[in-house]
Amino acid sequence: MAASRSNQRSRIVAFTVVALVVGLAVYLYSTLFDTQMHEGLHKNFVRIPFVALLALLAYFGVRFVNAAIFDFAFRLRRGYEAPTLVRNIFTLISFTALFAIIFKWEYPEIQLGPLFTTSAIFGVIIGLALQDTLGNFFAGISLHADRPFQVGDVIVVTQQKLTGVVESITWRAIKVRTFQNHIILVSNSLAAREAIEVAPRDNLNARLVFFSTIYTDSPAKTIHVVRESVRDADNVSDKITPIVRIRGLGDSSIDWEIKYWLDDYAKYNDTDALVRQRVWYALRRNGLTFAFPTRTLHIERHVPVRPITAEDQIADRLSAVDVFSPLSTDELRQLAKATAGHVFAPGETLIRAGDEGSSMFVVHNGRVAVQVVDHGGPRTVAELTEGNFFGEMALFTGEPRTANVVALEETEVLEIGHAAMKHLFETNPSLAESISWTIAERQADLAKGSASAQPSIQETAGLLSAIKRFFGLH
Ligand code: CMP
Repeated sequence: MAASRSNQRSRIVAFTVVALVVGLAVYLYSTLFDTQMHEGLHKNFVRIPFVALLALLAYFGVRFVNAAIFDFAFRLRRGYEAPTLVRNIFTLISFTALFAIIFKWEYPEIQLGPLFTTSAIFGVIIGLALQDTLGNFFAGISLHADRPFQVGDVIVVTQQKLTGVVESITWRAIKVRTFQNHIILVSNSLAAREAIEVAPRDNLNARLVFFSTIYTDSPAKTIHVVRESVRDADNVSDKITPIVRIRGLGDSSIDWEIKYWLDDYAKYNDTDALVRQRVWYALRRNGLTFAFPTRTLHIERHVPVRPITAEDQIADRLSAVDVFSPLSTDELRQLAKATAGHVFAPGETLIRAGDEGSSMFVVHNGRVAVQVVDHGGPRTVAELTEGNFFGEMALFTGEPRTANVVALEETEVLEIGHAAMKHLFETNPSLAESISWTIAERQADLAKGSASAQPSIQETAGLLSAIKRFFGLH
């Protein structure tokens, strides 16, 4: 309101000045020409203000023509305002030409041409003084010829970190209105040098908005839910459906980007915010969860006695060993506590024939071969799998190991020591007996060189008393 009123006032003032100037010019022309035309001194004195008056008249004339052409005719034909730079150039050229004509008319004896062309000092002074201005002027002309952007486009001057809407392009600078409603002038020469990102007004410009969800959320569901919530948001173009896609798999989240196109790019701040808001509500409604940085902590305890298998599993395994079947649950648990687990790679030797041995082993997982070495090399006499035991012969008789035991695949064994067995023998006398049967059987196999050989009753009885003696039992 206030602006238009002051505009009106300045127009009235301009009109009055023009009217006065025109009146004065006409008056001077008619009177001076008639009476003092030929009086030399007086004539020269009067000529200066007369030329000035004519120049002023020319100036207003040019302004009038300028307004008529660009404000009226141009707008009528093209439908938009003429670029400021074109108007300025028109004004400058017309005024210079008119001034030259007036000067030539009043001072025909003075040559204007040589004044500009021959004076080197004048040229240097002008050149230096107008260096920047001329640079801007020519950069402005090239910007107009090139038309990289127009009034109303959003531009980003990368180096200057400046974003805003182009308001006008003059002979000196580009006027940019930022999103904080500030005006920033970017000189034409700077604009010609810098990289400028342009989002043209009549173009479908896209934006990216980011968000993250947790790993347990379904990507397919997220895509559907988010896309549908964003596509009908205000200022999101319905010409292209928004794209929702996974940008990366982060440490604690699936990272997403939404690409959407805007009807009016100059409002992208509001639209970005609206899109984020839509995403929040859509995720909430559909039971999807925003991710925020999380860490999964694995706390390392002091190295456990039995790192491989849990105690219950071991007790279960021992209960499946035939010789331990008479043991109570409690005894099995006690025994499980006393065992130590070991893992062997395929091909590794667990027991070597001839070695001393004071413990036996139960196969927990995997498979081993019992091998005796004779003239032709190692010969497998038996293969033992889960729930079988070995190494009992040396443990119960005190003799050296009778054979090699080699892992055929990755094998986990449970080692039972002398003390644990002694404790069991004291409470379970039948245990020594059943074990002595197994040992006798295996000894017979070894002796005859084949499996399933039957030991004699005397052999077993002798073995049992040897075991009892060895363990100090009665
Ligand atoms: P030990 O002699 O301490 O060491 C080698 C082990 O091989 C032995 O105990 C038995 O447990 C086992 N073993 C020896 N002969 C046989 C066999 N014929 N069948 C199964 N296992 C055997």
